[in-house]
Amino acid sequence: MTRAEGSATPAARPPDDGPQTARELRLARAGKRRPTRKAAPNPLREGLRLERMPDPALFVLFGATGDLAHRKVVPALFQLWRTNLLPHEFAIVGIGRRPYADEAFRAELRASLDAFSRVLPIEAAVWEAFGERITYHRGDFGDQALYDGLSARLDELDAQRGTAGNRLYYLATQPSAFAQIIGGLGRAGLDHEHHGGGWRRIVIEKPFGRDLGSAIRLNREVGKVFREAQVYRIDHYLGKETVRNILVFRFGNGIFEPIWHRRYVDHVQITVAESIGVEKRGSFYEEAGASRDFLQNHLMQLLALVAMEPPATFDADALRDEKVKVLRAMEPMAPADVAAAIVRGQYGPGWVAGEPAAGYRQEAEVDPESETETYIAARLFVDDWRWAGVPFYLRAGKRLPKRATEIAIQFKQVPHALFKESNADPEANLLALRIQPDEGILLRFAAKVPGLGVDVRSVNMDFTYGSAFSVDSPDAYETLILDALLGDASLFTRADEAEKAWSVVTPILEAWASASSTWCSSPPRARRQSMSST
Ligand code: BG6
Repeated sequence: MTRAEGSATPAARPPDDGPQTARELRLARAGKRRPTRKAAPNPLREGLRLERMPDPALFVLFGATGDLAHRKVVPALFQLWRTNLLPHEFAIVGIGRRPYADEAFRAELRASLDAFSRVLPIEAAVWEAFGERITYHRGDFGDQALYDGLSARLDELDAQRGTAGNRLYYLATQPSAFAQIIGGLGRAGLDHEHHGGGWRRIVIEKPFGRDLGSAIRLNREVGKVFREAQVYRIDHYLGKETVRNILVFRFGNGIFEPIWHRRYVDHVQITVAESIGVEKRGSFYEEAGASRDFLQNHLMQLLALVAMEPPATFDADALRDEKVKVLRAMEPMAPADVAAAIVRGQYGPGWVAGEPAAGYRQEAEVDPESETETYIAARLFVDDWRWAGVPFYLRAGKRLPKRATEIAIQFKQVPHALFKESNADPEANLLALRIQPDEGILLRFAAKVPGLGVDVRSVNMDFTYGSAFSVDSPDAYETLILDALLGDASLFTRADEAEKAWSVVTPILEAWASASSTWCSSPPRARRQSMSST
């Protein structure tokens, strides 16, 4: 498994038609090449997306002057445009509170592309064609006049640009504005899909709610205006190549599935570690903390992909049905169990790469007495036939010693220690799926050390994407925006899925909110220092 064959990347490589066996090699050397062989098709092949061009559409971006739009959404759209994955009849309408002339708005986006585009330099001609498709519309999200004016503006643009009445609304705003915007769109009739008049879809960023109650209320507001099939709740982790590969790895190979089971697996560890702090998002973090920023979404999604049963078909609902079953099999934790199963921490001041780094409480827009967690570790169980009794250790945090997102499947020790006389006992088998950086898959197994004795050591078989495929992966936002434009919701969170994930996380938040279980056993300061990683 040190090299992978075939291609699962967007810039499709030609099938590997080189000699693959010793006989083929001999024939090739003798100038008698056998007919070329086609690479086996990948069941989740991106071709599904690449072979289909999205319909003409207007991309209506709420929060267009914000960080997310500039860093992620617009660079992803630009990349899709420059690789010919968007139709000619495509236009972007940015919406924000600040006043901008179209030209000034375009100039800001152009500057952001220089800073955040995955591919540089920006080709002038490509930008020109892309930039002239961008316009700006000013308005206050709480003011119904915005939506009424927008309705007329979008009709006008439809006529000018030939976008056939198709609209993707993208909410890249503060979460507190989601319900307001959805209500405004509904009152202006901007959700209506007239017969033959184009589709309407809405992408909603995370976090979706603050707890179970607010997620249910938000789903209700969304449901008053849009049908579930029109709604795309985004968790960008699901768009990452290596996360998507979990499904291929599990269900595209025959050899792992039988051992993906409590009989063979001792425990599973899912880690999302970041070396960065909260950067400029102090006020967001004060509201969210690691439990809302990572646990309810990224970590629970990774857990669901690892633990789910194989879906019968590869369509959005079959896939999401299986993920929801996993979340349903997770019993909400009793308050008394929270202290034993969940740990939280906060980073303190320290040093990063030889430079002093502020602690969380010293970050801008953070309360100097804040008790918000920037680290969380949880031991959770999936009570179903496959996983009963297997702990899933989930952890995530900021300002940890290195950036690493990884899923480790730790297998059980062999039942009988046959090589106990050996100098070093081998460790149990481990399968590590490295999501980022250094994307790849590692399998640890025992091997005999060459020599006259019977020394046994653990060795690694390591597959890395970089060396196997030698192509850049698309950014998660490129994948997800394209999917939303194509109407493929497989990699988006369904209403019941978001609520079920909150059912697991909310009891933890509630237990923390009660005085008795705050900060487990140690006082905040001692705990903060012990968790500090810098
Ligand atoms: C976001 C979180 O969802 O994911 C951030 O809000 C986090 O706090 C980010 O830094 C990590 O994303 P990535 O793609 O860099 O792993």
